[in-house]
Amino acid sequence: MTPRLPPVLVVDDEKNMRLSLKTVLADESYSVRAIESAEEALQLLEREDFFMVITDARLGGMSGYEFLGKARTRWPDLPILMITAYATPKLAVEAIRSGAVDYLPKPFAPEELLHAVARCAERYRLLQENASLRARTTETWGLEQIVGECLKMRELRQLIQTVAPTDARVLVLGESGTGKELVAGALHCLSQRVEASYIRINCAAIPETLLESELFGHEKGAFTGALKQKLGRVEEADGGTIFLDEIADMSRPLQAKLLRFLEDGSFMRVGGTQELRVNVRLIAATNRDIIEAIRQDQFREDLFHRLNVVQFRLPPLRERGDDVSLLADYFLRSFGLSMNKTTRTISRAARQKLLTHHWPGNVRELRNVIERALILETTSEIEPSSLPDFQLEGRLHKTAAPRLTGTESLDERMATFERELIGAMLEQNHFSLTRTAEQLKISRHALRYRMQRLNVVAETISDEDSTAFEGKTPSS
Ligand SMILES: Nc1ncnc2c1ncn2[C@@H]1O[C@H](COP(=O)(O)OP(=O)(O)OP(=O)(O)O)[C@@H](O)[C@H]1O
Ligand SMILES: [Mg+2]
Repeated sequence: MTPRLPPVLVVDDEKNMRLSLKTVLADESYSVRAIESAEEALQLLEREDFFMVITDARLGGMSGYEFLGKARTRWPDLPILMITAYATPKLAVEAIRSGAVDYLPKPFAPEELLHAVARCAERYRLLQENASLRARTTETWGLEQIVGECLKMRELRQLIQTVAPTDARVLVLGESGTGKELVAGALHCLSQRVEASYIRINCAAIPETLLESELFGHEKGAFTGALKQKLGRVEEADGGTIFLDEIADMSRPLQAKLLRFLEDGSFMRVGGTQELRVNVRLIAATNRDIIEAIRQDQFREDLFHRLNVVQFRLPPLRERGDDVSLLADYFLRSFGLSMNKTTRTISRAARQKLLTHHWPGNVRELRNVIERALILETTSEIEPSSLPDFQLEGRLHKTAAPRLTGTESLDERMATFERELIGAMLEQNHFSLTRTAEQLKISRHALRYRMQRLNVVAETISDEDSTAFEGKTPSS
């Protein structure tokens, strides 16, 4: 679940500036608190949570620079963006040296501001996610959480039991939503490393430039913004397990470094000169076709062999027969408990509808369907009317089938597929860019870029997104 983003704190003594910043940010659904002085800001920061601060360099009382210095010492992780009136390189350097994450010279385009803010928002999300994952490491992930009685699932649990206590590297493959994270968690929890850390890193969610320093850490001053030394997650995982999720999305240069790390556990922090060594067990997962990624030269074959000591393949839900029914009951019970709902059963007709669906989103989709049905259902039984209209998803499935006729090149076919997929997803999400981007696991910016490139013209982008195309109508 994406953690809720706290507001942005805007500090500016000019009323008009406060207003326009507020409007630009609110249009992108950020919540904003705008105040006049640095003094007030310091007090407010003591009491309330903000994900970042935007401050003018020149303020009535305490100057923006002084404020920056104070806030830095008190809240070292809080990103501060400074707006300067007459930007000179000297002032920029001063802003950065005082600890601003970024600075914007006036006048600036709204996009520039939004870009900087989006980066801070992403950073906040990652920090939160990591914190909650760290907290969750004490949670137990057992075999009993992996529901399913079909042969493949029973064999899978058996294999987890056999492999978990060894130090063997594991590669978990399977479509999105098939339970790869559950498998990785169970492998750690049933291993002798259970008392040590379980660190999970989503290689696709962390910007490429930051992933190396996230994994291996950095030395102070290794790059702009590296204000102090940071330990890598591999150091945090020493003695325990590291789970690299979405491994196929890792860049080639970093793959080379990971390969070296896998050879003997040695690595260097970014900007460091000393070779360090840890003892961690590695589990990797991806929902992409890794063999295809190797063929396309996106993934190193030697790294694949290093990771692929034991391979788990999670079957798609549509191949698990009656497990659909079993899982539906399981989710019904667990959501029923947490929602305090008395809905106890699934009607025959509804069960039939579940069993015939294709489940492109696998167990995650089923889980969401049951949660939604439980919210909608007012009687004690789930009826087909509380289940979604699967036709939309069905259409998605149809577009997913590769076209075998035609003379287009692979690139053209891929573009057609991408165009149709994005179109269908937009429709499914009532043309909300935010939700569609979330579902496709890309940024809104990336989604917009793809829509423009592929000429996806969405006629009715929903209100919250209406600013998305300002001045940038995709060409048709
Ligand atoms: N066999 C199962 N029994 C119970 N719950 C399951 C099972 N498989 C998956 N789930 C649940 O379905 C959801 C999706 O699972 P998970 O996050 O592990 O998928 P994933 O394979 O990592 O997907 P992605 O490739 O999109 O990251 C989770 O809420 C998980 O708890
Ligand atoms: Mg996953």
